[in-house]
Amino acid sequence: MVVSVKQLEKRYGPHRALGGVSLDVEPATLFGLLGQNGAGKTTLIKILLGLVVPTAGEAALLGQPVGTFSARREVGYLPEDHRLPEYHTSTSLLDLYGALQGIPRRQRRRRAAELLDLLGLAGREKLRIRGYSKGMKQRLGLAQALLHSPRVLFLDEPTDGVDPVGRKEIRDLLLEERRRGVTVFINSHLLGEVEQLCDRVAILRKGELMVTGTVADLTRQKASWLVAFDRGVPVSFRFPGATIETVEGGSRLRVSLAPIEGPGAEGAEAIDTFLAAASAAGLRLRHLERERATLEDLYLAIASGGETP
Ligand SMILES: Nc1ncnc2c1ncn2[C@@H]1O[C@H](COP(=O)(O)OP(=O)(O)O)[C@@H](O)[C@H]1O
Ligand SMILES: [Mg+2]
Repeated sequence: MVVSVKQLEKRYGPHRALGGVSLDVEPATLFGLLGQNGAGKTTLIKILLGLVVPTAGEAALLGQPVGTFSARREVGYLPEDHRLPEYHTSTSLLDLYGALQGIPRRQRRRRAAELLDLLGLAGREKLRIRGYSKGMKQRLGLAQALLHSPRVLFLDEPTDGVDPVGRKEIRDLLLEERRRGVTVFINSHLLGEVEQLCDRVAILRKGELMVTGTVADLTRQKASWLVAFDRGVPVSFRFPGATIETVEGGSRLRVSLAPIEGPGAEGAEAIDTFLAAASAAGLRLRHLERERATLEDLYLAIASGGETP
């Protein structure tokens, strides 16, 4: 395991920031930790980096207790709300950080140039960070985290303030890192982002882990469909086991169907027989779409303290 956390607890005085969190992250995973402000995401990352001491429980990084020098060497970190020294340019900053990390000059210059190019910052090397937009600072922060080619990346709200093009570049870069075997641990409150990018997610609420799983499992498909026909469904049309309601201002029907069960039913979809019946009733199909629960549905249900959908 790259990250292994057991019954981890952190109290700040009487305030409990983490209340017994257990979590594992396997190698070469894009892992997303979601939760509202104050949920404990940053605290968890800081414990894994050895920057905050837990009150109780166990935390290991790359098979070693957190905070050990050899584990830290393998880690890149983009802190939340980081501040880069403004009088530097991107090149001089990366050169300084690379030198502090002991990367030989030629190697660090090549790697810096490659990262600035990949992150869309090439051509701005002479501009001081003072003149950077929030998105540019964020991308440079990411270049800083990747400079020594770490095996594990911790990114705290990495795409905060980054425009859509920049987000796409960051996403592509992280997918490439994952392909090379890097494990990426992302804290985010941007659900769509995490849904698109991450293999596995966990949702933290007030210091407690509510769910973990693959994005596919957590957004498992509902047995309902959005359908449009070329005309209204005749009142005489009936289909056993279907609930039909009109949605989206009358332009779509939501058809909820009971799953087909029994011998020989593998792969059979109730929607097929439903559509055949509709066709026999003279209705022509114009739109068909399976409805999915989004990560947002799940998140909102958890954030509001309700049942999971
Ligand atoms: N150094 C600290 N001292 C006291 N309370 C803190 C400290 N750091 C974080 N907290 C509190 O712990 C909780 C979790 O914070 P944090 O881990 O930053 O959450 P998140 O990153 O999910 O927004 C919050 O209620 C926050 O106010
Ligand atoms: Mg935070």
